[in-house]
Amino acid sequence: MGALLFIGAWVLLGVAVLFIAMSGGPRGAREALYSQRKGPRRATAIAVTVVFAVMGIAVPAAVIAGNEDDDEAGRARIELTASQERGRELFGEVCQQCHTLAAANAVGRVGTNLDTLKPPKSLVLDAILKGRVRGAGTMPAGLYTGKDAEDVADFVAAVAGRQ
Ligand code: HEC
Repeated sequence: MGALLFIGAWVLLGVAVLFIAMSGGPRGAREALYSQRKGPRRATAIAVTVVFAVMGIAVPAAVIAGNEDDDEAGRARIELTASQERGRELFGEVCQQCHTLAAANAVGRVGTNLDTLKPPKSLVLDAILKGRVRGAGTMPAGLYTGKDAEDVADFVAAVAGRQ
């Protein structure tokens, strides 16, 4: 889409050059510019303005719009339920300090990489409620309880290793 508009801009530039050439070539254009005849002069000015408008506004706008499309496509890959969405927020408040999970933009290195582990919901819930003391670090017990713990576990199980 961005590329298409970029090509379009060059086509327009070509048309503008053609337009100037047809109205008497560079010399004709120059004569028109310096003569008192306002018509061709104004037409040239309009053509130049249009070309600059397309190059200066439409092309960057198209590139930005194109990037936004890519972004949305990346995020829309996993549909989250309301609980999982809530779990994602809770995960961002606590768990991301220690764990890596791409879907939550988390890059912590203290605990297990959850994208690699791909834990089922029951394992995540167990880890949240009981904590973990193993390997190099410690995960405190009861970081979340009840529905909070459920939502976080639901979210992690749904997205781990999938982005
Ligand atoms: C203070 C750091 C820290 C925080 C905060 C933390 N964890 Fe952990 N987590 C760890 C460590 C350390 C381990 C154990 C790594 C090991 O096995 O050596 C672990 C292990 C895990 C495991 C794997 C359990 C297993 O049996 O393999 C899961 C799943 C997990 N954490 C989920 C979470 C979730 C969800 C949260 C947020 C509620 C969270 N962690 C918050 C440090 C943390």
